[in-house]
Amino acid sequence: MLFSHPKSSIRLMWRRQIFRLRRISPIWFVIVVTCVLFLIIHVPNPFSARYNRIPIDQDVQWNNVREILELKEDIFQSVTLSNNIKIIQQGSEKQETNSIILIVLYTTVFRAEKFCTLSGERIFGESCPAKHRCQWSCDPTKFREADALIFHAYDIPFARPSMPDRSETKPNSVWILWSDEPPSIINYALFNKYNFNWTISYKFDSEVSIATYGLFSKRDKSLSNNEYQQWIRKEFSNRENGALWFVSNCKSKRRLELFHNLKRASKVLVEGYGRCVDYYPLHLCGGSSRCEYDYMSNFKFYLSFESNTCRDYITEKFYKAFYHGLIPIAYGPDKSDYDRFAPKNSFLHIDDFDKDMSQLATHLEEVHSNLTLFSMYHEWRKNYEVIIDGKALERVRMCELCQRLMNVRKNEMIYYKNLERFYTDKCD
Ligand SMILES: *[C@@H]1O[C@H](CO)[C@@H](O)[C@H](O)[C@H]1NC(C)=O
Ligand SMILES: *[C@@H]1O[C@H](CO)[C@@H](O)[C@H](O)[C@H]1NC(C)=O
Repeated sequence: MLFSHPKSSIRLMWRRQIFRLRRISPIWFVIVVTCVLFLIIHVPNPFSARYNRIPIDQDVQWNNVREILELKEDIFQSVTLSNNIKIIQQGSEKQETNSIILIVLYTTVFRAEKFCTLSGERIFGESCPAKHRCQWSCDPTKFREADALIFHAYDIPFARPSMPDRSETKPNSVWILWSDEPPSIINYALFNKYNFNWTISYKFDSEVSIATYGLFSKRDKSLSNNEYQQWIRKEFSNRENGALWFVSNCKSKRRLELFHNLKRASKVLVEGYGRCVDYYPLHLCGGSSRCEYDYMSNFKFYLSFESNTCRDYITEKFYKAFYHGLIPIAYGPDKSDYDRFAPKNSFLHIDDFDKDMSQLATHLEEVHSNLTLFSMYHEWRKNYEVIIDGKALERVRMCELCQRLMNVRKNEMIYYKNLERFYTDKCD
């Protein structure tokens, strides 16, 4: 019986092998195992980074985001009251006061305290004009004195003490919902009832919206033509491959289809790393790891494909590509949404090409082989830099919050009548 089992011959073989191994001195055994382990860990990465970044000042100067603030102001001024999502009553004259604005973070942020021990300069940024006017507190028991209360959507169910009543807070206090997640992750219908006054989110028409996942900041001083030419030539020749994609979430089918179509049509190398695309690279490449960036330094394009197509939902996938010197190929919200955040001629958008991706494939080939064309998509770098550092981005956001709180006009009233509809706008 035992010997008729097909596995037993294998077992027998193993036994023989192990017997042989036993005769090898244990020292040799240890040496061989150590060498193998060493090799596995230290195989040189074939794509070790060759990207030379044009210097970036991650400490964003408030002045350098003026353009986007002005654009936002224009959009805000033209909002009508009719849509029943947000109720807006423009205020009258400016209020002249020098008192401190108390901002109370009522909930945690993803179950963690935030900014509690930091100085104003660290929270709102050195260059924030209003940094001395705003005071941050993580003590929810101060809700009665608060001028602004922040509730982080994910943490509202865990709020301790539970949500206050509007009648207990200052009559003109601003209740703010903070959430940077699309409605597929958070059920915003749960929060309709609070009639929040403002939102902090990725949506351009949120009261606080800039720098959610990345930011283009105007350079203090433009790059010289010389500096730029040197850089662009080097990048053009170093980046030998076409388009790269790192993907971990395999649920969103449409973007997978786009990827496969592009790969089929393209003559330049298009590669995807992830469970649902080509393969895992030899090195386990974690998200935002050094290894990921090393791979990125060898490609000209990056597939910045969002998992959701919600209005303004443009995540770090987009900004990361710029930061590492690639041209993003965007799929997500409409192109017009991207145009509000990114400089002209800085990216490609799927909507500009036909569905079977053959036009895009042809265009990639052209850009890949023509320095003039390639350079066109990087010209913006002379005047802008892209910021992806989380701490730097947060300072910009909090400064926008503080500036806006400081400029609340007399009789101004804003509140969200339907928060859910606000977030689900143009989502698929
Ligand atoms: C490169 O592209 C530019 C701009 O489209 C074009 O004028 C030029 O002829 C192209 N060069 C080659 C070698 O194809
Ligand atoms: C905040 O919203 C409430 C309704 O929920 C409204 O009565 C109040 O006027 C709003 N305050 C501001 C400053 O917009």
